Amino acid sequence: MTAVERYAAVSVPRYTSYPTAADFDAAVGPRDHARWLRDLDPQEPVSAYIHVPYCWRLCHYCGCHAKMARRDDVIDAYRDRLVEEIALVSSLCGGRIPIDRLAWGGGTPSILGTEGLVRVVDALARHFDTSAIREHSIELDPRHVSPELCRRLADIGVDRASLGVQDADPAVQRAIGREQPMDVVSAAMDRLRDAGIARINIDLIYGLPEQTERSIVATCHAVAALRPDRIACYGYAHLPHRRANQRLIDTQRLPGPVLRIALAEAVCGTLIGHGYGRIGIDHYALADDPLAQATRAGRLHRNFQGYTDDERRSLIGFGASAISQLPGGFVQNEPAIGAYARMVTEGRLATRRGHALSEDDRCRAAIIEALMCNLQIDLGSDGGRFADEIALLRPYVADGLVRVAGTRIEMTEAGRPFVRLAAAVFDRYRTESAMRFSGAV
Ligand SMILES: C[S@@+](CC[C@H](N)C(=O)[O-])C[C@H]1O[C@@H](n2cnc3c(N)ncnc32)[C@H](O)[C@@H]1O
Ligand code: SF4
Repeated sequence: MTAVERYAAVSVPRYTSYPTAADFDAAVGPRDHARWLRDLDPQEPVSAYIHVPYCWRLCHYCGCHAKMARRDDVIDAYRDRLVEEIALVSSLCGGRIPIDRLAWGGGTPSILGTEGLVRVVDALARHFDTSAIREHSIELDPRHVSPELCRRLADIGVDRASLGVQDADPAVQRAIGREQPMDVVSAAMDRLRDAGIARINIDLIYGLPEQTERSIVATCHAVAALRPDRIACYGYAHLPHRRANQRLIDTQRLPGPVLRIALAEAVCGTLIGHGYGRIGIDHYALADDPLAQATRAGRLHRNFQGYTDDERRSLIGFGASAISQLPGGFVQNEPAIGAYARMVTEGRLATRRGHALSEDDRCRAAIIEALMCNLQIDLGSDGGRFADEIALLRPYVADGLVRVAGTRIEMTEAGRPFVRLAAAVFDRYRTESAMRFSGAV
């Protein structure tokens, strides 16, 4: 095994936050959550995220907080809990806080139905100032995108949609339990664009069973032909010990580290060939997309939704498992839907765990975010403080993945896919547990 193959098999977090959600604990609870909400400046806009943890059917590969919904009354009850939680959270804030960005994720949020979505948006408008939202996005399943849904989404102000595609190849789709011809995707995009929702993202995954370099290149050609503004291509995270649905995927058929690297490189080369620019480690965007503009201006950020041009200090998450990022620290809601619903019904914050940020955390978070976004950082006057971490980078330097010059750290072209390994060097909470995270590439 070469050094690169060895590194590709190492488990590392995706660093959508630092500390990662895996390092949150119950030392932070509803009282901290309430205090941090009270401390928010009512004049300062926040971002909001609404999590809907239901889907019509579960895909074999899915690693999201999602469950199959069998009954409408369950969905309606969840919608009502969201409405109650919005009122509860806002009652703890010092005023009618402006929401700058609103994102729906899941699961498949449109399972709430158009009336359900409207009810939740109305609740937000009652309790927060939603008059100047500058981006309103939603994750959609292309198999459930009707012209009527698109019109209603446009009516409530949705202006960006993210469609899950994963792979266009029928053999891969069969292996992952997600059969979805590309006609379905292109019809969904047409309907969104006809309704005036012009900004579209597509999600792909590399590292799936049956994928070959040839098949993934064909997927990229098919997707790029539809000209979405953004394409995310995530490395498949296979954690069957944690996600029962992933046990339906034959681990033996998964690409190994060498093929994973080749697949990621094939995606990158193909999408660049179609005029997409690289954003961080796994996103691609057309030049006029805000993410591409943020990258060029050095304003790219990373939060729980991945790469973003969102510069707000606070993100309030609603729904089971939702994470809020507040100036004082992180809080995560109860992931079990029943427990979440019970707490909200009782008029309590559904906080399950979190993390209060120390000065050291903030400093390391800035370094890790810069590495994940810009693939380089100059530690400047902090260089001395992180001398041990710089020393830990030596093996990566020797293997040509990282360049260190004084206090400047930079991923080489070959090292780009391994940036999570360099970031992990600055992660004080990181343990060597191979089970917790997915491979480095
Ligand atoms: C909430 S889903 C997208 C919306 C909608 N539910 C759908 O599937 O079309 C979010 C995205 O997470 C990604 N994803 C899910 N499970 C994953 C896994 N195990 N590894 C990597 N990416 C994954 C997929 O690309 C998926 O499109
Ligand atoms: S990928 Fe999307 S549709 Fe499939 S189970 Fe996950 S959240 Fe649901």
